[in-house]
Amino acid sequence: MIPQIDLTRQHLALRAELLDAVERVLGSAQFILGPELEALERELAALCGVRHAVGVASGTDALALALRALGIGPGDEVVTAAFSFVASATTVLHVGATPVFVDIDLDTYALDPELVERALTPRTKAVIAVHLYGHPAPMDRLARLARDRSLAVVEDAAQAIGAAYAGRPVGSWGDAACFSFYPTKNLGACGDAGMLVTDREDLAERVRRLRNHGAREKYHHLELGWSSRLDELQAALLRVKLRHLPEWIEARRRLAARYTALLSGLPLALPFERPPARHVYHHYTLRSPQRDALAKALAEQGVGTALHYPLPLPAQPVFGGRAVERGFPCAWQASREVLSLPCFAELTDAEVEFVGKEVRQALQRVA
Ligand SMILES: Cc1ncc(COP(=O)(O)O)c(C=O)c1O
Repeated sequence: MIPQIDLTRQHLALRAELLDAVERVLGSAQFILGPELEALERELAALCGVRHAVGVASGTDALALALRALGIGPGDEVVTAAFSFVASATTVLHVGATPVFVDIDLDTYALDPELVERALTPRTKAVIAVHLYGHPAPMDRLARLARDRSLAVVEDAAQAIGAAYAGRPVGSWGDAACFSFYPTKNLGACGDAGMLVTDREDLAERVRRLRNHGAREKYHHLELGWSSRLDELQAALLRVKLRHLPEWIEARRRLAARYTALLSGLPLALPFERPPARHVYHHYTLRSPQRDALAKALAEQGVGTALHYPLPLPAQPVFGGRAVERGFPCAWQASREVLSLPCFAELTDAEVEFVGKEVRQALQRVA
């Protein structure tokens, strides 16, 4: 059996380093807002080439707190992708604003800047640019549009740590950017965790306050805040893993290139890297009109796959049926056709070859 993702291999390889980190934190008995988080924040800011990083409890909280710190609330509209993980849009609801869905570009699964422009109204305050599957959104065009129209840009970089656009790291393009360290992410914690990065001092200060009950000084609460901290245990574990991130990204890029070589020429839409983006292949997601039959045939041969995501966001009940089906043809097509193959840094060459061969054979069977 080749699973779509297997975290045990990574943890086995790093066992001694991870246990050392846990020991260190247990010994310090400092679990919230301590030196491990401060160090991780410095390391993440450096990775993204920005001045500030603020650890929070999840990627979802990072997005919601970014919007809140930008002053977005009731009456405001925020443009976001019609095809993403749900938090790219529920966080807009969390701050009382209205998500405005825009269709994606089917080649990169990112927001289409022309459609973004058409969706703007006088109430639009921000655009959430999702770097889905690890492929950066077209940040040059989105940033230019936002500047011309005085909009904020929040990067949803939950799936794209280490990726870059035009040589600039994701996380450095928006007013703020949000990372998730959900365990299956390219840099995953052993629990929930997230981070907001920004070059803006005002936003960093505000989110530091919002994550901690609206307080900067103990028991002095300036505004309504949350309890949303990235704890010391997770920070220490993430710091161990962060040292390995560059080699993991290279491994993912290599396996993606190999899959693409093995699968080219087949009736599949394969993922690719559209310059000047640098893809980190959080997922290797292809498209096939026979997606369900293909997934079933692969499962029968012991190849695990996953479906990111089976419904466009406007069709999710949580958004109250605000959207019309014909408005998002690419999001609908993606949700019917996408299939993610096994993709993690520890996948062996032999496993990649096996998966490639099985996809080829399964396609012949389901054709
Ligand atoms: C694109 C995207 N945005 C936001 C999130 C939310 O992150 P978290 O699960 O850490 O809350 C995730 C991951 O789960 C994601 O994939």
